[in-house]
Amino acid sequence: MEQIAKSNPRSKPKSKPVSKHRHKIALVGGGNIGGLLAQIACQKNMGDIVIFDINAKLAQGKALDIACSEPVENFNADLQGGSEPSMLNGADVVIVTAGLPRKPGMSRDDLVESNAKIVSSIAKHIAEQAPQAFVICITNPLDVMVGHLQRQANLEPQKIVGMAGVLDSARFRRFLADEIGVSTKDVSAFVLGGHGDTMLPLARYSSVAGIPLPEIVRMGWISQKKIDEIVERTRKGGAEVVNLMGTSAYFAPASAAIAMAQAYLKDQKRILPCAAYCQGQYGVDKLYLGVPALIGASGVEKIVEINLTDEEKILFHKSVEAVKNLNEILEKLISQNKV
Ligand code: NAI
Ligand code: 2OP
Repeated sequence: MEQIAKSNPRSKPKSKPVSKHRHKIALVGGGNIGGLLAQIACQKNMGDIVIFDINAKLAQGKALDIACSEPVENFNADLQGGSEPSMLNGADVVIVTAGLPRKPGMSRDDLVESNAKIVSSIAKHIAEQAPQAFVICITNPLDVMVGHLQRQANLEPQKIVGMAGVLDSARFRRFLADEIGVSTKDVSAFVLGGHGDTMLPLARYSSVAGIPLPEIVRMGWISQKKIDEIVERTRKGGAEVVNLMGTSAYFAPASAAIAMAQAYLKDQKRILPCAAYCQGQYGVDKLYLGVPALIGASGVEKIVEINLTDEEKILFHKSVEAVKNLNEILEKLISQNKV
C-alpha cells in the first residue's frame, strides 16, 4: 500500500488499516444484546469491534450496518462480523451473550442445559484466542453461566465477571426515581445476590442525592409500602419486559455491560454490582454471586463487604442457596456428559 502511495500520491488505501492503538472488543453472540453492544461501543469510541456468532451472516450484516452509521455518528472504529474463532484473537474485552434468551413463561433457570452447552463451546475459543481479556458474561442463568465459563476456559477468576447487578440496580433506580419524582441521576441503589427472583434490592443502602432511602420515607416522599412494591417489581423486572416484548430485555442490559467494560478499559475503579467470584466474602466460598465489586485495570480488584441485618442475611442466603442449587443441576448435567 505504501508503494502505491509513493508512486501515486493521490491513490487511496483500499481498506482502512486496523489500529494497533485502539482497544479491541470482541462480542461473542451477535443477537439482540450483541448488536446493541456493538453500536453503543462504537458510539462511545471504545475501540475496534468484532461480532462473533454461529450465524456468520447475522454477525457480518450487523457489523456492516453499524459501520455504515460511522459517517453520520462520527465515531472511529473497525467492525468485523463472522464465525471464525480467530476473530477473537488479542481482544482486550470479551462480552458473551451467546445463548438462548427467555420466552414468556420461562425462568432464567430453564436455560441452564441449552446455554451451558453453548458456553462450553465458546470457552474453548476464549481460552485459545483471548486468555488475557477481561470477560463479561451476560448469558443466563447468569451466576451459574459465568462460573461455568470461568472453569471451562480456565480464566483467572478476577478477570471474568457476570453482568446483572448493574442492570438490576438500574431498574431499581428507575422505579424509585419515577415514584419519588426525581432524576434517576440522583438515585443510587444497591442490589445483592443472584440474578433471579431471590435477588436482594437493598433499600437501606440506597439513597437520593446522598439522603438514605429510610430518611426519604421519614420525610414523606415515598411510603415503605411503595418501596416494598418497587423491590418486588425490580426482582421481576426481567419478566415484565419478556412479557411485553416476547423476548429478553436488550437495551438496558447492553448499556450495563458497556459501563462495566469501560470501568476496566479506563481503569475507573468503579464500584459496580456484578457476579464476582467470592472467596469467603459474605460467608460465600468459591461461588460467583452478585456483590459490589471494584472494577479497574486488573479486573475485579476488590469485593466490597457491607454489614447486613439478620433479616437481610436470611434473604441473601436464600439467594445463595438458589444459585448453589442451580450449580448442582449443572454439575449433574456435566457428569452425564449432557453439556
Ligand atoms: P439473542 O437470541 O438475540 O442472541 C443470542 C445470539 O447467540 C444469537 O445470535 C445466536 O446465533 C448466538 N449463538 C448461539 N450459540 C452460539 C455459539 N455457540 N457461538 C456464538 N454465538 C452463538 O439473545 P439476546 O437477547 O442477545 O440474549 C442473550 C443472552 O443474554 C440470553 O441468554 C439472555 O437470557 C441473556 N440475558 C441476560 C441478562 C442479564 O442481566 N444477565 C439480561 C438479558 C438477557
Ligand atoms: C433480564 O433480567 C432476562 O435476565 C434477563 O432482563
